[in-house]
Amino acid sequence: MQKDLGNYRKSYEKSSLTEEVISDNPMELFQKWFYEVEASDGVDEPNAMTVSTIGLDGFPKNRVVLLKKYTFEGFIFYTNYESEKGRAITQNPHVCISFFWPNMERQIIIKGRAEKIAENLSDGYFESRPDGSKLGAIVSNQSEVVPSRDYLEKKLKDLEKEYENKEIERPKYWGGFIVKPVSIEFWQGRPNRLHDRIRYSLQANYDWKIERLAP
Ligand SMILES: Cc1cc2nc3c(=O)[nH]c(=O)nc-3n(C[C@H](O)[C@H](O)[C@H](O)COP(=O)(O)O)c2cc1C
Repeated sequence: MQKDLGNYRKSYEKSSLTEEVISDNPMELFQKWFYEVEASDGVDEPNAMTVSTIGLDGFPKNRVVLLKKYTFEGFIFYTNYESEKGRAITQNPHVCISFFWPNMERQIIIKGRAEKIAENLSDGYFESRPDGSKLGAIVSNQSEVVPSRDYLEKKLKDLEKEYENKEIERPKYWGGFIVKPVSIEFWQGRPNRLHDRIRYSLQANYDWKIERLAP
């Protein structure tokens, strides 16, 4: 079987990214782009991002998770700490996260160090989730092999009974990671493959060095 995709071609013409309009701090530019993609209404889940980890098997692995908060400090997502990604991060906290917003012809690539957020912050976010999502976090030993879908559905039903009229507490193995960036690269598609790439790198004195990269 084969399918040639050589004629898939697109000219990127929507916008530009020049040194004159960028801020000294990349989080401000991240926020500007995030607001713009939200306002464009052209991306279903603008907060969906790819997280790459280096696994215990030595292979990189990407998967999509949802960004739940960003601050000047970093990017927060929630997951099972004992999942494949959780274990990978425990062994090697160096991760890469990326966003691709096709309608804006934009990509952002962030390298950083992931660490668990404070327990009370995870509690607060867990508390805000609907009961179904809370039980979902409990029912699933994320990344473990399961015998069947029926097994999971039965487990969920049992938990629904067990927790009827009871408060559902956050399990200790579920919570947030914050990715503290050391490098953030903004990519804006431009015509003739002369795309704009601006990279911010964190310096020892916590200033950000700004460089333009060849496309
Ligand atoms: C749109 C989308 C959003 C997702 N959001 C999350 C999330 O916020 N947290 C999470 O643990 N998994 C999320 N997932 C599932 C992950 O992609 C992945 O399957 C899961 O975390 C297990 O990954 P691992 O086995 O590599 O640890 C999401 C998947 C998609 C497609």
